[in-house]
Formats: sequence, structure tokens, C-alpha cells
Amino acid sequence: MNPKKIIITIDGFTSCGKSTLAQDLARELNYLYIDSGAMYRAITLYFLRNHIDWTKSGAVKTALKNIELEFTFNPETRRSEIFLNGENVEYVIRDLVVAEKVSEVAAVKAVRTFAVAQQRKMGKQKGIVMDGRDIGTVVFPKAELKIFMTADIMVRVERRFKEMFARNPNITIEEVKANVEMRDYIDSHRDVSPLRMASDAIELDNSNMTKEDQLQFALDLARKKLRA
Ligand code: CDP
Repeated sequence: MNPKKIIITIDGFTSCGKSTLAQDLARELNYLYIDSGAMYRAITLYFLRNHIDWTKSGAVKTALKNIELEFTFNPETRRSEIFLNGENVEYVIRDLVVAEKVSEVAAVKAVRTFAVAQQRKMGKQKGIVMDGRDIGTVVFPKAELKIFMTADIMVRVERRFKEMFARNPNITIEEVKANVEMRDYIDSHRDVSPLRMASDAIELDNSNMTKEDQLQFALDLARKKLRA
């Protein structure tokens, strides 16, 4: 095995398949996979459950002191799952109620400072694939390999609808589309760390690619960096 370890960042719009690629890549390289979006979703879940008004900085500051986030690898699902104060919330954070508020919460500066500090700690040893919105621009600006994913809007909506429908047959494609569009808009227009492609990132449009194609594309890039 190559003793050299790098940091790989995967950023991009909502429902582009970032986490699928990041997980596959981490498995192939034997790297740690971190879903930074899960952290923002878990914080949102905490705020919703505890009726925290995230527009009030004092309330946010106090609430963040009571939040502990941890990722644990589940050998059954072969993915790392997020724990909020000791509770596995990996599945509940995917609900529409959380998706409807997460972009507002993720735009709060104190929330980002809290999450980014933990993300940087996780990348200290390198050997990590992290996906999100600002990973290549803000969290790891010196990462060796940065990928920026895009895909056609309807392809993204249909992918997300399939995932959400499997868990909630009452959900409609219109609801999913509205959520995807709203999150993309807020994520790209916020003041703090807006979604942008890093100048040294490689763009990957996977509208017409299979899971295997995108993995091969990213693996070739990673192996080139590992040889360099
Ligand atoms: O739905 P999708 O998997 O594309 O999104 P996610 O990665 O679960 O992220 C959920 C939300 O968290 C995003 O819409 C952003 O508002 C926020 N986020 C962020 O601001 N910065 C990150 N590094 C990751 C996610």
C-alpha cells in the first residue's frame, strides 16, 4: 500500500452523488470518509428538537456547547454514521423537515466555525475523503485533490426523489425539486463560505455517468496525485 496519504475534497450542488463517489473512493483507497453535510443536518436536528432560534446568536452559542458529534463506522452498512450526543441520527437527518431548514442553519457563522474546526481535526492525519460545499475552498484549501461535482437539475431531483420516496411514500417530486432548488440557492448566495468551485478543482459532471464511471475517473486522478 502507498504510504503517501492525501486529502480529497468533493464539493458541489445538492444531490449530485457526492457522497456515493466519496464513499466508493474512500473504500478503494482505504481512506476515512466524512460526510460534512451530515454534521450540518445533525446540528439542524438538534436546533429543531430543542426549539433553538438560530437567528439569535446567544441561543446558538449556548446550544452548540451542548452538541457533541461523532462518526462511527458501521460494518453492516460499510459507512460511517453520525451520532448526535450519543444517538445514531444517520437516518432521521435525511428527512425533509431537516432538509427544509439545514441551509438556513448552515449559513450561520457560529455553526460553520463549530463544524469546520472539527472537520479540520479529522483531516490532520490525511487519508481522508470529505464531501460538502466548502471543503476545497475553506476547510482544506491545500488539499491535494479537489473535485467539484455537477449534474443536470432533473437528474439530481430524480435521484433524490427515489431515495426519499423509499423512506416516505407520501413525498412528491415537486417537494423534492423545491427543496433542491432552495438549498442550492441559499448555499450559493450566503455570506459565509458560499458554495463555489475552487480555482484548482476538477469539474465532474456525472449526469450521464454510472457509479463505476465516476469512481474510475476519480481514482485515476487520485492515483496520479499519489504517484506525484
Ligand atoms: O442533500 P445533499 O447530500 O446534497 O446535502 P448534504 O451534503 O447532506 O448537506 C446538507 C446541507 O448542509 C447543504 O444543503 C448545505 O446547506 C449544508 N452544508 C454546508 O453548508 N457545508 C458543507 N460543507 C456541507 C453541507
